[in-house]
Amino acid sequence: MVEKEEVLRYVEDLIRLTGFSEKDGETLAKYRDVALKWANDVVKEFYDTLFSYEPTAKVFREGERPLREKTLREWYERLFDGKYDDSFWLWQWYVGIIHIKRKVYNRYMLAMMGRVQLAFLRKALSELPPDEAIELCTAFKRLTDVIAGLIAESYHLTYIYSLEAVAGIKPALAEKMMSLHLNRELEKYAPRS
Ligand code: HEM
Repeated sequence: MVEKEEVLRYVEDLIRLTGFSEKDGETLAKYRDVALKWANDVVKEFYDTLFSYEPTAKVFREGERPLREKTLREWYERLFDGKYDDSFWLWQWYVGIIHIKRKVYNRYMLAMMGRVQLAFLRKALSELPPDEAIELCTAFKRLTDVIAGLIAESYHLTYIYSLEAVAGIKPALAEKMMSLHLNRELEKYAPRS
């Protein structure tokens, strides 16, 4: 099981490496009103994309779209609060776990995070002076990169820990056995000249 303190350490890694700062939080809060006006279009593009592609459309249950649009909108709006406390970061961790349950692979999540970032960039460039758009989009990108990293890490680690737990394998033994397996995978995918 991954402890909450550990999750918060991963958040520190991601904040440090992306360069997300308090100033970015202030920028996001400053543009909250304008950014919330873009929510409908961002959410629509997100779900139009997922529902128009069979592998991602089949992730959803019959009639689920309104509910999913509501949660994504809440998530989007929360980004502009300017306050990112432990419960905010742990919520992003939770998203990774729920994605495992619903078979939302990280390749889907990461591709869609990129799409959200570009939809946001288009909106900002069309409605704000260029220097303000750059400042806002930089803050948005850093925050959503931290989140994408966290969701991906949550998916990855929770998946592995759950497998170890249900199979009753000790992590150290699993690591040793994996090392042998990884050598075979490396061999298979090694670039040939
Ligand atoms: C930018 C990437 C994504 C973000 C930020 C995101 C965010 C979220 C959030 C906030 C929730 C709700 C968690 C809660 O209940 O509090 C959620 C749940 C869910 N997401 Fe994602 N998501 C992303 C990508 C995707 C993709 C690509 C799919 C489908 C292919 C997807 C499918 C789902 C489903 C089915 C649930 C519902 C889980 C449940 O309650 O049963 N998500 N996601």
